[in-house]
Amino acid sequence: MNIVVLISGRGSNLEAIIKGIEEGKIDAKITLVLSNKKEAKGLEIAKKYNIKAKFIDPSFFSSREGYDIYISEYIKKHNPDLVVLAGYMRILSDRFIETFEGKLVNIHPSLIPAFQGLKAQKQALDYGAKFTGCTVHFVTKELDNGPIIIQAVVPIRPEDTEESLSERILEFEHRIYPQAIKWIVDNRVKVDGRNVFVERAKYGTVPVNPDLEDF
Ligand code: GRF
Repeated sequence: MNIVVLISGRGSNLEAIIKGIEEGKIDAKITLVLSNKKEAKGLEIAKKYNIKAKFIDPSFFSSREGYDIYISEYIKKHNPDLVVLAGYMRILSDRFIETFEGKLVNIHPSLIPAFQGLKAQKQALDYGAKFTGCTVHFVTKELDNGPIIIQAVVPIRPEDTEESLSERILEFEHRIYPQAIKWIVDNRVKVDGRNVFVERAKYGTVPVNPDLEDF
């Protein structure tokens, strides 16, 4: 299976996915890492692993549509079975999403539908939530809100800052994203409208925060 990864920055999720492939857990090849930011650290990570890394400059295009049409064509040349958004910080046009719908996935640092959009970790803290987490989902035209493949719950502690919480969520991003991709590659993911089921997966562990003491 061929995978194309879109990034804008640090690329830590990209690296977690690459490691999953290198360790032989994900039976796939990343044929392209594409960035809309020249300085994205993830481009260096791709190069380190001998993966094709490409920056395409949005400022050369007069519209979002125009840029997205161009990158769609570029991506198609790399024959993707799956297009993975890993910290891609640019809203995709409807046309791009239609082109890759069903094989386009994203990770978001909250339990969607809570705290969609930017600074999801800060939103959860400001709200006073006791749990937040991260979600891998299929991408639909609604931002941060497609069918959910997997979520990890991360408890919020009273002393948490945006940084400490983001760091704890990130540890789980690096586990659930490669996991979800492996399940897709292994053809275990079945989609029925909004409902996604992973065949033969174990469901049902319950987290409570603060911890129960008397009941
Ligand atoms: C992650 O927190 C991801 O959930 C969000 O953007 C961040 C990307 O981090 N969509 P990285 O570039 O993968 O390190």
